[in-house]
Amino acid sequence: PRLWLVVPAAGQGRRMGADRPKQYLDLNGQPVLAHTLARLHGAYPQASLCLCLDEEDAWFDPAWVPFADWRRVAGGDERVDSVTRALDDLAGLAAAEDLVLVHDVARPCVHPMDLRRLLDILLDERVGALLAAPVADTMKRADDAGRVASTESRAGLWHALTPQGFRYGMLCEALAAARRAGIAVTDEASAIEALGLAPRLVAARRDNLKITHPEDLQLAAVILDAQAQ
Ligand code: C5P
Repeated sequence: PRLWLVVPAAGQGRRMGADRPKQYLDLNGQPVLAHTLARLHGAYPQASLCLCLDEEDAWFDPAWVPFADWRRVAGGDERVDSVTRALDDLAGLAAAEDLVLVHDVARPCVHPMDLRRLLDILLDERVGALLAAPVADTMKRADDAGRVASTESRAGLWHALTPQGFRYGMLCEALAAARRAGIAVTDEASAIEALGLAPRLVAARRDNLKITHPEDLQLAAVILDAQAQ
C-alpha cells in the first residue's frame, strides 16, 4: 500500500502565549515544523505528505518541506476538522487500503525507531495502531473546587501519542460516523474505537512530547540534543 502522512499544523497554539503559532517557534535554530517534517521524512522518505495549514498562515515557508510529493490543505476549526479536510483532499488519489499516518506538528521529538516500528506493525495490522506510553503518575480526579474527588487506578492507562496509523478507507468511514453521531474526537483512534474496533497500542518512548506550554520548548531542545548523542 501507499503511505500518506497527514500533519495537522493549523492550530493557533494559544496555550503557548507566544507571538506566533507554536509550530513556528525556534527550536535549536529551526522552527518546530521543520524538525517534525525532517523526522518524518527521515523514516518515511517515499511517503506523500498532506500538510494542514491555516488559510491565513503568514509564517509558513515551503523550504521547510523535505518531501518530493506534498500538498497543502486548509485546516478547519478543530484538529479533527483539519484531518478530515486532508482526507477529503486525498479522495480519488488514495486507495481504501493505503496507509494514512497522522502526526501532530507539535511533536518534533518522535524517535525514528518508533516511526519505523509503527510502520512495520501497520503493514500486518487491519485495524490500525498508535504510538502510546503507559501512564507513570498516580491519577487523581478533581472536583469543581480543585480538590481530589478520587484516585483512579492507572493500571492499563496509556497516553495516546502520534503518529496514529489506519487504512484510508476505514479512517474516512470512522471520522464520518463520529461526526454523524456527534462524538467528540481528539485523536483518530477514538473514531475507530467508536466503530467497535480496537486499534493496537505500540509502546513508544516517553520523550515524544507535544509542545503545548512554554516550558515544553526548552524540554524539547534538551530531548533533541540527548537523542543526537
Ligand atoms: O493544540 P493541540 O496541540 O492540541 O493541537 C494538536 C495538533 O493539531 C497541532 O499539530 C495543531 O497544529 C493541530 N491543529 C490543527 N487544526 C486545528 C487545531 C489544531 O491542525 N484547528
